[in-house]
Amino acid sequence: MDQVHNEDLTPKEAIDALEQIQGKFPGARRAHAKGDMYEATFLPNGNAVPYTVAPHLHREAIPATARFSNSPPNPASVDYLVPAKGLAVQFELPDGSFTNLVSSTVPMFVTSSPREFIDMIEIFTDKKTGIKTIDRAINMVELVSKKYPHSKEVIQIIKEQAKQPPTSYAELHYYPIHAFYFVNKDGERQAIKYEWVPVDETKDPALTSKSISANYLTEELDDRLKRGPVQFDLFIRLAEEGDNPNDATDMWPEDRRKVNIGRLEIRNKIHPKEDIVYDPTIIPKGIELTDDPILHFRSGAYAESYERRSKNE
Ligand code: HEM
Repeated sequence: MDQVHNEDLTPKEAIDALEQIQGKFPGARRAHAKGDMYEATFLPNGNAVPYTVAPHLHREAIPATARFSNSPPNPASVDYLVPAKGLAVQFELPDGSFTNLVSSTVPMFVTSSPREFIDMIEIFTDKKTGIKTIDRAINMVELVSKKYPHSKEVIQIIKEQAKQPPTSYAELHYYPIHAFYFVNKDGERQAIKYEWVPVDETKDPALTSKSISANYLTEELDDRLKRGPVQFDLFIRLAEEGDNPNDATDMWPEDRRKVNIGRLEIRNKIHPKEDIVYDPTIIPKGIELTDDPILHFRSGAYAESYERRSKNE
């Protein structure tokens, strides 16, 4: 891990803090603990070729593994009560190595500093009361908003998502949040942000908590997959002058040029491969990391979480 930007916080401290939120769940990821894995294929369409030599973004179909998840550390979290959902994709490159793209339904992060994130999550510690209702979840979000007014915009997005739980994992947009640099065959660099856009955006009627199970999102997805693959298009947005690539709270203006670079087809549920660590800093030639301190910090934090869960701690 690159410690340069994060001297004041170690991965161990961060994982200790995450374990305080809802307690410790042996063998489980310290965040996004509840999730399922699916076999998938990524079909690049060639539109990324002018921007990057990354092999999975050219023209050949690429085998992939996708994991949908709920964000809390509790592997028994209730789908209905959790606003932020995850989609992690691991692409198998032609030379046998891997690269990851890890995204959330929230388009920006709550802070640009790992230390502040760890301070912030103390508010979500539900040792005493627990998040048992949607109102309680919204109250928690409001508390964060009061203490960290500069995170107001993203907190508002999370609050709206909490009020209107999704009807399906397949109908959501997922954002890897951080910018990356694409590098083409002439060595030219372009900062980009990705977005997964669902091919089927049809929304079912609003849900009510009384009518659904704690695992309704996985159940719905498994039913849907019986009818055919679930698909997402991968878009990139191209940075322009003045867009900051190093700040996970900066969304960039909406009018940035968007390019569709391929389609993910998700098919069968598979037995979870618990040794996969969706570290977002694992990238091939043709893609480079920015100096975003959150992005760099994640690598060490995910390794520490893996270290503990692989020992069944
Ligand atoms: C300092 C900031 C962050 C910390 C400390 C953190 C921590 C963690 C940890 C410990 C895990 C479990 C890793 C494992 O055991 O394999 C995890 C998983 C995950 N995180 Fe983060 N995270 C951070 C930022 C983010 C951001 C910005 C996003 C959104 C793009 C994100 C999305 C996810 C997702 C989707 C997973 C589940 C991956 C999977 O399915 O295995 N995280 N995070």
